[in-house]
Amino acid sequence: MKRTKLLIPGPVELDSEVLLAMARPLMGHRTPDFEEILQDCWRLLREVYQTRNDVAIITGSGTSAMEAALASVVKEGDEVVSITGGKFGERLAEIAAAFGAKVKKVEVEWGGTFSLEEVERAVAESNAVAVTLTHNETSTGVLHDASAIGRLAREYDLLFIADCITSVGGDEVRTDEWGIDLCITGSQKCLAAPPGLGFVAVSERAWEVIENNPGKRAYYLDLSRYRKALEKGTTPYTPSVSLIYGLHAALRKIEEETLEARIRRHRRLARATREAARAMNLELFAAEECASNTVTAIKIPPHLSDDDVRGALKREHGMLVAGGQAQLKGKIFRIGHMGNVTFAELVQVLAALELVLKKAGHDLELGAGVAAAQEAFSD
Ligand SMILES: Cc1ncc(COP(=O)(O)O)c(C=O)c1O
Repeated sequence: MKRTKLLIPGPVELDSEVLLAMARPLMGHRTPDFEEILQDCWRLLREVYQTRNDVAIITGSGTSAMEAALASVVKEGDEVVSITGGKFGERLAEIAAAFGAKVKKVEVEWGGTFSLEEVERAVAESNAVAVTLTHNETSTGVLHDASAIGRLAREYDLLFIADCITSVGGDEVRTDEWGIDLCITGSQKCLAAPPGLGFVAVSERAWEVIENNPGKRAYYLDLSRYRKALEKGTTPYTPSVSLIYGLHAALRKIEEETLEARIRRHRRLARATREAARAMNLELFAAEECASNTVTAIKIPPHLSDDDVRGALKREHGMLVAGGQAQLKGKIFRIGHMGNVTFAELVQVLAALELVLKKAGHDLELGAGVAAAQEAFSD
């Protein structure tokens, strides 16, 4: 099978040490040897999350962690303020509603970020118990200011539930400092681990709500079961042993690189991608002041199709970038530069992009995007 290089916002390319770790024979999941691996995963997860809180490890993709967070804190009739503005912001609102919450949406224009006054008005006019935000909205390539919502949540005594699925391990996520009570992430994005694990870092405030919530509609995803198991150094159900091996190897790679250097690399890659796009006469979808550092959304020029860009990149160069979702289908494409992506790998996709655009009749000068990326990266 011809190999396709992944430059999508997850799953991302895995390091060979991560792949090899998963080929190891299974261990008993309730043994001291496995507990040692789990304990080290928890230690390393707390570092990338910048938290002292417990981190639940769930077998399931990121959405299972979103569901665990909401199902554990919400009870029928609770009011929840959800800041939307993209497919994943909508998903948090949908999950809250699925567990009986009365959701008050603060709708944000796709590609932009929220107005704090508007969020505050929605909070002040409701009896909300929680506020939800997608920190890095992957569908639009927007990074929202989670620290501002954290302050607001404290002021109004709300639980702050943040989907940080495409930011933890790639961008700054200061779980404790920003006051994120339920901080959600997934394995296959910036952590560069295999798909199939979800995580929730839970604050003391949130544990209190969870443990005093008799109305919760959850069993497998009831976070209180994860806390009980955590105290005993284990998981409540059989964990996916091989995925935990992969996670452990991936987290150790992050420790080796250091979180600080990793965040800096992501930011430089994002800047290089945006500058390259502009130099290729392409328009960015997200406003510059809230552009994501892990995924860049670029408008498909009106005279071109999704196939002219993404189809050709895959067919002719073996590179996969993501398309638009929901109402953005066919209108944008998204380059994922999260996980282990290097500058050299980014340049490959940018150079290939120039070729396919030129071939499709787009007005650009070959090499202009690559040169702009080089300039931006060396700043
Ligand atoms: C911001 C965000 N939230 C949630 C999800 C859903 O995660 P998963 O597909 O792992 O369930 C994604 C996946 O792309 C995402 O980017």
